[in-house]
Amino acid sequence: MTLRDLVLKTRSYRRFDGEATIEPETLKELVDLARLSASGSNIQPLKYILSADPATNARVFPHTGWAGYLEDWPGPAEGERPSAYVVILGDTELRREFDRDLGIAAQTIMLAATERGLGGCMIGSVDREQLRAVLDVPERYQILLVLALGKPAEKVVLEPVGPTGDIRYYRDEDDVHHVPKRSLEEVILGQF
Ligand SMILES: Cc1cc2nc3c(=O)[nH]c(=O)nc-3n(C[C@H](O)[C@H](O)[C@H](O)COP(=O)(O)O)c2cc1C
Repeated sequence: MTLRDLVLKTRSYRRFDGEATIEPETLKELVDLARLSASGSNIQPLKYILSADPATNARVFPHTGWAGYLEDWPGPAEGERPSAYVVILGDTELRREFDRDLGIAAQTIMLAATERGLGGCMIGSVDREQLRAVLDVPERYQILLVLALGKPAEKVVLEPVGPTGDIRYYRDEDDVHHVPKRSLEEVILGQF
């Protein structure tokens, strides 16, 4: 797969094959790539909690928020929920600001998941207090982002943002998930 193909295939998937499993070792391989990625001042303040365990997954899921634009959809039903989670934490004893490292690490993990035939969704809408309790996360670590992973069981297509400028994703009558993307002309402000 070319990098372009990998990026195109790395969509946000929110419905999964609930029967599929992910090996704990696979999660470790994904995080290993994030660990080897760029980090501001090379401080490497990100830490991770991994779950490929159905019982733990079932305790994590209720504290994740799904597809805010799909107002009538409460999130993946039982049987189509993620097979694994990577919870990305910021170690406040190493740094107070994590956003740039976080983006690099999160996308690296998602790309690596795609390469392995997996897919998932970055979840920023998280009940952090509840999740901290469920996973017993010490106060020292900020809960930054949850990556939900599994074997995707939905079709996602990209399309140009229309004339109204609406960037909200939606599902059509065939249950296909559409994601509007701004054009290259819109996002490149200058070229010299
Ligand atoms: C930082 C970040 C936080 C996100 N949080 C959520 C979330 O809480 N729930 C959700 O369903 N999707 C979440 N997403 C997924 C976005 O909605 C998704 O990236 C966007 O709709 C574009 O779709 P695409 O990833 O397929 O390009 C998040 C994405 C990012 C980058």
